[in-house]
Amino acid sequence: MKIKVFTLFPDMLRPTLSQSILGRAIAAGLIEVELIDIRDYSHEKHRNTDDYPFGGGAGMVMAAQPIVDAFAANLPDPFPGRRIYLSPRGRTLNQHIVEELAQAGELALLCGHYEGVDQRALDAVIDEELSIGDYVLTGGELGALVVIDAVARLVPGVLGSDDSSEDESFTTGLLEYPQYTRPADFRGARVPEVLLGGNHADITAWRREQSLLLTLQRRADLLDSAPLTDGDRAMLARLRRSGEIEAMLQAHGAPAQRLSLLDADRWPKQWFAAFVPEANRKAAKKHCFSGRRHTGHLWQAFAMGFIPDCVEGDAAWTLWQENAPEDCLLFLPEHEILYRVQGIPSRECLSALGDVILADEGLTRTLVRTGRGNEGMYYTDI
Ligand SMILES: C[S@@+](CC[C@H](N)C(=O)[O-])C[C@H]1O[C@@H](n2cnc3c(N)ncnc32)[C@H](O)[C@@H]1O
Repeated sequence: MKIKVFTLFPDMLRPTLSQSILGRAIAAGLIEVELIDIRDYSHEKHRNTDDYPFGGGAGMVMAAQPIVDAFAANLPDPFPGRRIYLSPRGRTLNQHIVEELAQAGELALLCGHYEGVDQRALDAVIDEELSIGDYVLTGGELGALVVIDAVARLVPGVLGSDDSSEDESFTTGLLEYPQYTRPADFRGARVPEVLLGGNHADITAWRREQSLLLTLQRRADLLDSAPLTDGDRAMLARLRRSGEIEAMLQAHGAPAQRLSLLDADRWPKQWFAAFVPEANRKAAKKHCFSGRRHTGHLWQAFAMGFIPDCVEGDAAWTLWQENAPEDCLLFLPEHEILYRVQGIPSRECLSALGDVILADEGLTRTLVRTGRGNEGMYYTDI
């Protein structure tokens, strides 16, 4: 990749181009960056490069002559690459454009300053204008550095391993999942358990879920064009629903933290194993599970009497209130979403949620509320 930068202030770029990954890539010859001082091409006595705007107005405008001559002296004609003016009026840079630029092989970047550049220079030597965001900088040099940095990362060999750029925000069409490094416990804040377990399928599933969640929360617009699988779409539907339910729990004074969908997939089976006696399991399983995922309603294990010794009705609610832990797990079988809830959700709140299973973390006590025309309340502890 060859990049030529046309600027009045080459010293603004030099320090950045000599540091870290960019510095090493340039030293290794993986990218070539040449800084061309536009002032060297001025025909003015004092090497002036700017003048007052015709028609009046504040500030100075970079004149056409030094720019056009600098381009003519430094680029072959025709130029095989892309000639870009960094400008707030341009297309806004994004990862797709960066990928296009990395394919171009050669780039010429023009940095404006002051009030901008005489339009005739742009008409003569520029193919396109690129903005690095909807704000105004004092000059194009920082924009040029942004372009160089983003493009360089895609040049083979610049990053440590070729796949380090494949998994990142925007490259997958989504925002990146959260990253953690040692220690596993930093002042009480623990790394999510799944990342410590070494199960690669689980780690991949968790990261995908986190990417989808962050993208949904922060940049839902990206989801329209991101390449999504059917599994991603199903996950997004569950995440959307869980956001609505979380808001409802919050409104009922029972703030809830949604747990990973991986946990929500596994939890019903653990719950089932904890509460259904061995003798009843086969029959209960037939009603409550089918295949890998839970498809029936877990509370059927209560309603159909597979769990003996449970207390029913108002007495169940009283027992739960007396024995409930401070933080409980709340599973919504219909939506297959699992939450950790602070405090005891009110009876009114449970009614609003439909079918609900509440349990303590260690799965020793459970309250099941069946809803929607099948009202019932069951309590059990083991
Ligand atoms: C003060 S700005 C000129 C702004 C210009 N008068 C306008 O309103 O569009 C000076 C130079 O900074 C650069 N620049 C400013 N904001 C930029 C952005 N968002 N992206 C890329 N370059 C920018 C351009 O090269 C521009 O010529």
